[in-house]
Amino acid sequence: SFVPVSALLRDAENEGYAVGAFNCNNMEIVQAIVAAAEAENAPVIMQASQGAIKYAGIDYIVAMARVAAAGAKVPVALHLDHGTSFEQVIRCVRAGFSSVMFDGSKLPTEQNIAITRQVVAVSRPVGISVEAELGKIGGTEDEIVVTDREALFTDPEEARYFVEQTGVDSLAVAIGTAHGRYKGEPQLDFERLSKIKSLVTVPIVLHGSSGVPAEALREAIRRGVRKINIDTNIREAFVGTVRQVLDGHPDEIDPRKVLGPAREAAVEIIREKMRIFGCAGKA
Ligand code: G3H
Ligand code: 13P
Ligand code: ZN
Ligand code: NA
Repeated sequence: SFVPVSALLRDAENEGYAVGAFNCNNMEIVQAIVAAAEAENAPVIMQASQGAIKYAGIDYIVAMARVAAAGAKVPVALHLDHGTSFEQVIRCVRAGFSSVMFDGSKLPTEQNIAITRQVVAVSRPVGISVEAELGKIGGTEDEIVVTDREALFTDPEEARYFVEQTGVDSLAVAIGTAHGRYKGEPQLDFERLSKIKSLVTVPIVLHGSSGVPAEALREAIRRGVRKINIDTNIREAFVGTVRQVLDGHPDEIDPRKVLGPAREAAVEIIREKMRIFGCAGKA
């Protein structure tokens, strides 16, 4: 029932848009992601981090995503976000994910290559696509001196070598985005992105995309980004609405009255992103 991410990114590559990948960790967000995709007639990637899997339980994540996808006309992928071990990848493959990310970006490159190759070796034969990461996409809270920033960015030549050596389906790159909320406006290294794109054959993934202005996202897509990850903007919409409802109605005790509007707010922000990414209308 879930399609592999690679199939969605192939279409995106052919038509020059990006597919949205949205993080989920509870029922309301799973529902919001698929409702948004249906409303925009967009292909969609639902993704769960190890933290989300720990919170909800791996079987709950898969079951909720399955029910949501079964009721949808648009293609839906279920992807592991930032898997940091071979064992985690295997658990997700077994549980029913259609795509996995192995994030070995904190490891020395040769070790990142070795484990990514193993992940590809077990995933490819069963039709599951693999995303890997090269370069360090930190968090916005990480204290990084501006002059050290580029040292963490993805090296284009190394990216070419990495993709050749591993056979991955897509590559997450570090070009100036960060996970979480930005203090100022992020400055993306577009030249580096174009250089990477010219040297690697697989679709490029942009992480930390919440808070990146729409015009910068469009430029990144023009230069080859085909999967865009969004988590923080959903959290802000969801929890912001919970806060607003509770502030307005301090005596409210019905979870549906609190989480229902939060789910609606999540649908709206996800739809907005899909229109920016160009995947709206592409299902
Ligand atoms: O890239 C990280 C995602 O935003 C997931 O965050 O590990 O807190 O679930 P998390
Ligand atoms: P943001 O939370 O900054 O949107 O990043 C999401 C992400 O990259 C998930 O892998
Ligand atoms: Zn990420
Ligand atoms: Na971000």
